[in-house]
Amino acid sequence: MRILAIETSCDETGVAIVEKTTNQDHVFITSTILASSLTLHAKTGGIIPEIAAREQVKGIIPCIDAVLQETQSTPDSLDAIAVTYGPGLIGSLLVGIETAKTLSYLWQKPLIPVNHLIGHIYANFLATKESLPDHVQFPALALIVSGGHTDLVLMKNHGSFILLGGTRDDAAGEAFDKIGRLLGMPYPAGPIIEQKAKQGNPKSFNFPRPMINSEDFDFSFSGLKTAALREIQKHTEDEKQDETFIANIASSVQEAIVAVLTKKTIDAAKKYHVASILLAGGVAANQRLRERLHKEVSNQKLPMNIIAPQKSLCTDNGAMIGAAALYNYHPIDLNKIIVDPELYFPS
Ligand code: KG4
Ligand code: ZN
Repeated sequence: MRILAIETSCDETGVAIVEKTTNQDHVFITSTILASSLTLHAKTGGIIPEIAAREQVKGIIPCIDAVLQETQSTPDSLDAIAVTYGPGLIGSLLVGIETAKTLSYLWQKPLIPVNHLIGHIYANFLATKESLPDHVQFPALALIVSGGHTDLVLMKNHGSFILLGGTRDDAAGEAFDKIGRLLGMPYPAGPIIEQKAKQGNPKSFNFPRPMINSEDFDFSFSGLKTAALREIQKHTEDEKQDETFIANIASSVQEAIVAVLTKKTIDAAKKYHVASILLAGGVAANQRLRERLHKEVSNQKLPMNIIAPQKSLCTDNGAMIGAAALYNYHPIDLNKIIVDPELYFPS
């Protein structure tokens, strides 16, 4: 089966053609393209929804054209269309949804609405010419760490998603972005903090590890942001520009976030006896997070594998939406598809 997939929940316009055969346990990316308005947002330190949606209106048709041309596909060669219907920014989601509905009507193709968060999980099933994904075994635990979410989700099988816990305030990616902004970094600051942290000492500042020992699987990162703000405010403007200072704050902040994510993920994985841990979302690209999880699983000799998407597929993209649709093939009458900016998991 061959799907055209569209993702426009935030600032990116992601379009892909993906394919799956019944005897394969992965989804092959035939073509994928990403148009980003990031450079416009970098200057402002965060996403401006109106600008994001306007850029998506301009970018979506050229992106669809590009994947069709690259694969020399006609609409006839497609079996269905998949599109993100939430969560996300309403204006951005509408661009994708309305385009997908129009194409579905014109080309007479089934339309599959996809939850963006489930899309992130399914990035773990994507294959390219260069690499096949590791085999996911159930039950699996997904840690979704993105700009808007920090969730632990238990998957007993495809299509079964049980929310174990989520953030009570800021998401992990949001904490990286907000603290980065305090250090003068452009949006998104997560990857920059990761780079700067390499030169820093993670023990320079003893930042809080919020809720690390709470019995539940919830998270909270706003206290960490406040602690970082207090520390940064103690310093003069010159000191704040100092590379060593920036590297030490970056390293200590990253260590605090990674420590909490690792502890809670391992606790949940043990409690639910999972066979695989799946990393998902932009923060899953963080190498320190990957390393610490691997180390913990190996130190405790836990019988589970850790799977993470290729780094470029951790952040928003169209292919992951196509993969989620192929494993959860539920086309819906296009008149019944409604954008849901607050969409979440059933708890
Ligand atoms: O999944 P995503 O592309 O968008 C949302 O659905 O939110 O995630 C974007 C988030 C941003 O907060 C960004 O700073 C963070 O992922 N991020 C990282 C890294 N790469 C992206 N955070 C830490 N380390 C990274 N390497
Ligand atoms: Zn996302």
